Amino acid sequence: VPTHVKSICCIGAGYVGGPTCSVIALKCPHIKVTIVDINPVRIAAWNSDVLPVYEPGLDEVVRECRGRNLFFSTDVDAAIKEADLIFVSVNTPTKTSGVGKGFAADLHYVEASTRRIASVATSSKIIVEKSTVPCRTAASMRTILESNSTFAADGTQISFQILSNPEFLAEGTAIRDLFAPDRVLIGSLDTQQGKAAANALSEVYENWVDRSKVYQTGLWSSELSKLAANALLAQRISSINSLAAICEATGANVDEVAHACGLDGRIGNKFLKASVGFGGSCFQKDILNLVYLSESLGLKEVSDYWHQVIKMNEYSKERFARKVVSTLFNTITFKKIAVLGFAFKKDTGDTREAAAITLCKYFRQERAFIAIYDPKVTTNQIMLDLTEPGVVDDAEAVRKQVRIATSMQDACDDAEAVIICTEWDEFKNASKQEWEAIYKAMKKPSFLFDGRGIVDTKMLREVGFKVHAVGKGP
Ligand code: NAD
Ligand code: UGA
Repeated sequence: VPTHVKSICCIGAGYVGGPTCSVIALKCPHIKVTIVDINPVRIAAWNSDVLPVYEPGLDEVVRECRGRNLFFSTDVDAAIKEADLIFVSVNTPTKTSGVGKGFAADLHYVEASTRRIASVATSSKIIVEKSTVPCRTAASMRTILESNSTFAADGTQISFQILSNPEFLAEGTAIRDLFAPDRVLIGSLDTQQGKAAANALSEVYENWVDRSKVYQTGLWSSELSKLAANALLAQRISSINSLAAICEATGANVDEVAHACGLDGRIGNKFLKASVGFGGSCFQKDILNLVYLSESLGLKEVSDYWHQVIKMNEYSKERFARKVVSTLFNTITFKKIAVLGFAFKKDTGDTREAAAITLCKYFRQERAFIAIYDPKVTTNQIMLDLTEPGVVDDAEAVRKQVRIATSMQDACDDAEAVIICTEWDEFKNASKQEWEAIYKAMKKPSFLFDGRGIVDTKMLREVGFKVHAVGKGP
């Protein structure tokens, strides 16, 4: 197994594989990095001027190294053969059928990649789990690789070392997170070969990350730490959102409560922003995965404990939607609702599990008309997200009820209520004059529901809006 890495292949050119390996190429000009995917449209986009992932700073990174030591390709086999080290960075969504449906991770993309490596490799390699996977997935990967490994040209048996190297970047700040990670976690088997492989990967990161930030652990701890970190982060949001409900009922202000608690060094002030509910491709999926893991291990109380984090998140979204309906005199049927923001957070075009999707579906069931504006999400993506797969006439029904607007003002024209779903700076920094123009064009009374706690409620009340902000009493 290689002890120094000269060539890297990344299987999976998604939100993680693309940015992560582009940064490795930037920081390690002596390493050839090839990012491969079975989706030719995605690879074509990575090779074009409009990258398939929107991330501040990503364009610059790709522009500097693409064609130098960074390549995007659909030739998976060639890249596997050439590499000393292979990142497996494919999707691991929640299973939608079969055993563990709705909870367990669907590992068939990971397994397909592993089998591909086993069948085409002609030399020994380090295989790195970058995808978020259930604890002990590396053991299955090793069994597949060992059972299928062949012989190199010189007759020696090919061998593989498997490492776990979970990714902790957050979307919208991916490049910043990759340039200066809080830590790089590398899990390996506690053997001489395992440690040597971990050191080889560490050496790659040490081109820009201080060695003190690289934390080496056992394989299983590393795999579990990724699920644990996401569960702990999401748990903080559900905790503050549960307190937001109490704030609204009592007149306390959730921002003040969060600030007061966060001043305690043991608690800290990060990840305590109350919201309409968390979204994103991973928090829910990874906690469901942890719930399934705990249950499979016979740990029902543990499983129930983490499941509550998801249930609280569902409750937060529903509570907010109900508040809209009850405030608008208990009916929004045929009323026009403006939805500002569709991405699951600011500075990304990603809509996976976005709270806006749940809210819009709820408003549609109440037969409201919805106008949606998001600075980065495409019309196609919004329509796709609001269409139930398998419902034939659903797309047509969505088109009748939903309009995609081109600006805040456009979305709000003639609306009875504005709903802020994403904390885009454009909404946060809108001036009093802009809100006055919006107010003027709306039906009266004009309601504003701030699902992100970003607008100046005092100023908006001065303008004339009837404002409801999450976690803030009347
Ligand atoms: P993604 O869906 O954006 O990308 C995955 C890519 O893998 C897709 O383009 C798909 O076509 C490709 N792929 C699937 N099977 C393949 C195969 N056999 N050969 C080649 N390509 C294949 O997913 P993502 O958001 O990049 O997430 C990838 C993993 O990283 C997941 O396990 C996720 O949990 C984890 N993760 C995601 C984030 C995030 O912010 N999105 C952060 C940390 C960890
Ligand atoms: C999250 C983690 O932060 C990353 O460390 C992790 O690598 C990643 O999941 C992953 O495994 O995919 P991400 O989902 O991209 O990153 O974005 P976050 O910043 O964590 O936000 C997630 C959701 O929580 C968003 O909808 C955000 O608006 C919401 N949130 C966040 C709040 O409602 N309140 C907060 O205080 C923070």
